[in-house]
Parts: sequence; C-alpha cells; structure tokens
Amino acid sequence: MIVLGLESSCDETAAALVEDGRRVLADVVASQHEVHAPYGGVVPELASRAHIVNVVPVLRAALDRAGITLDQIGGVAVTCGPGLIGALLVAVQAGKALAWARGLPLVGVHHLEGHLAAVHLEPDPPPMPHLALIVSGGHTSLVKVEDHGVVVELGRTRDDAAGEAVDKGAKLLGLGYPGGAVIDRLARTGDPRAFDFPRGMIGRNTGDDFSFSGLKTALLHHVRAHGQPDGQPLADVCASYQAAIVEVLVAKTRRAARREQLDHVQVCGGVAANGALRAALRAAGTEDGFVVHVPPPARCTDNAAMIAAAGYHRLVRGDRDGLDLNATATMPLPRRARTGSMHG
Ligand code: KG4
Ligand code: ZN
Repeated sequence: MIVLGLESSCDETAAALVEDGRRVLADVVASQHEVHAPYGGVVPELASRAHIVNVVPVLRAALDRAGITLDQIGGVAVTCGPGLIGALLVAVQAGKALAWARGLPLVGVHHLEGHLAAVHLEPDPPPMPHLALIVSGGHTSLVKVEDHGVVVELGRTRDDAAGEAVDKGAKLLGLGYPGGAVIDRLARTGDPRAFDFPRGMIGRNTGDDFSFSGLKTALLHHVRAHGQPDGQPLADVCASYQAAIVEVLVAKTRRAARREQLDHVQVCGGVAANGALRAALRAAGTEDGFVVHVPPPARCTDNAAMIAAAGYHRLVRGDRDGLDLNATATMPLPRRARTGSMHG
C-alpha cells in the first residue's frame, strides 16, 4: 500500500509517498527558513500563510517524483499535532479533502510518533522494544518504544527542549535562525573543553528528566562578560555549549539503556542531525554494548516520509480517523499509553 504523508506542524511543508511503510517513493520538503530568519524564530501567522501557498505544489512534486497518480494511493496520513495550530490545520485540511474526494482511509499522526518512525525507513531498523531519545525543536524525551505507536515515556525536559537550547544559544551568538546546524558546523573547529558550561540535571538521582534552561542563561552571562565572540573563540564557545547538551543527552540515554536492559537505541528529531551527538552516542554504544540507530540527517529534521511510515502502521492496524479529525496544538506523549489514544 502506498501512503501519502503530509506534514505542516512548524516551518516545513512536506509531502511524501511511502510504500508499505518501508520504501520511499518521494520525499519533498519546502522549508520556510528564509521567511522566518529575519525575525530570529518562527512567526506562526507567516508559517500558516506559507503552508497554504506551498501545500499543493509540494503534493504535486511528490506525485511527479514518484511517477504515480492519486489513483495509486491507498491511504492518507497527516500530522495532527503537536505544533502551531494554524500551521497544522493546513496539512490536516489538505489530507481530509483528498481522503474525502478519493474515498481514501485517513489517519492522524502524532508528530513525535512520526519522528520515531523515520529510522524504520532505513535498512536495519531497531527491533521492538527499544529505547528512543527524541530531540527536536519543541521536545526532548527518553521513551521506551514497545511497538509502532506504543511508547512509555521515561523522562522529558522540565523546561527548554534540546533544539530550543541550541536555537536560543545561536540567537545569543548572532548566528541566525534556526541555529542548530550553524552551531554544529562551527563547533567542528572549536575546543569543547575551552569553556565550562553547566550540565543540567546530570546527577545520579535526577532520573530521566532533562533541564536546559540554565545553560542558555550561562551563555548569556558569558557573552555579557566577554562580549560577542568571533573567529576561534566563537568556534570554542559553540563547541563547549554543544558539548554541555550532548554530554547530558548521552549520559542519560546510556543510563536508561542499561537500567531498562535495552540493547538497541534510536535517536530522532532535528537535533539528531548533530554530528557531535551522533558520534558520542555511537561511541557510548560501542563501550556499553548497545546498537545505535539514527536516521540520515534529512530524516531527522521535519519531513513527511516519517509521517507516511507511522501512518502506514496505524492503517494496517485498522486505525481510521473521520473527517472530524482536528489539529491539536498540545499533545503530550502520555506516560503509559498508545499515542493513538490522544487523537481528537
Ligand atoms: O524535528 P525538527 O525539524 O522540528 C521540530 O519538531 O521541532 O527539529 C528542529 C530543531 C531545531 O531546533 C534545529 O536547530 C535543530 O533541530 N537542528 C540541529 C541540527 N539540525 C537541526 N541541532 C543541532 N545540530 C544540527 N545539525
Ligand atoms: Zn519535528
């Protein structure tokens, strides 16, 4: 079955066609980074408007690239939350219109369930159950994945998400929006031990939760005390700041893997594109004996192939949403439940 995936939860308009939850026929992403860059962050109203302009061309491009027509699609999967409400509504409405017009089954997908499915498009996906570190612009969670769409959340951030920490750090350093990839690149030539930024909630008895808000404050104090860094000092600040995030993420992940006795670990979400995080997790896996699964960088950041893959697993299980499917801005991963129980 070929599933059409649609995603518009934040600042990417995306459409993808995936066969049997495994084979990507087309994966088209229209980024709005230039739209929001002058404002240093996503402007929700501008995001909604850009999604409206982009959604049909992106869908057409996906069909063209796959070389198929609407007649060959067997189901429609659309991100229904969490995210920016006006942005989410665009893909939800487009998906509903298509499902209605073509008589196709429709399923709403939790955005994080989509991120978790990205790695299942790779040649050697992790077995169930496995541990997952989800690190995106809006979320940071450690979850035990028991099956497709069935997760137990072990811990989450108490304040900023990891992606928020890198984006706010980049903004403080005048590196523009979104800053994750820029910090990643600059950090490559910097010394991660040059400056000692705080490691939030790293202690033995802090559980699986995270905290990154103190880190951004420490960077603010650093910039106030030493001025805006440039050249090598800027690379050193980027490397040290990034190391503070990566070290905590890796320490908590390996601790949870050991405790839960899970020997397969995946990392997903935009921050999983980070070179230092990928390398550090792989090194930890080699040392501790767990296998690390990570999607290619373009499938870590928002895309619709992951939504189509997650939607496929829901559709084959018989999950269906009606034309009353709505977009939901806040859809937290429940502590112990199927993510599907959160729909509408
Ligand atoms: O998953 P995603 O595309 O959107 C959300 O669901 O939020 O994640 C976006 C986040 C942004 O904070 C962005 O700066 C960060 O992922 N990011 C990175 C890298 N590429 C994207 N962070 C660190 N290193 C990267 N290479
Ligand atoms: Zn995302």
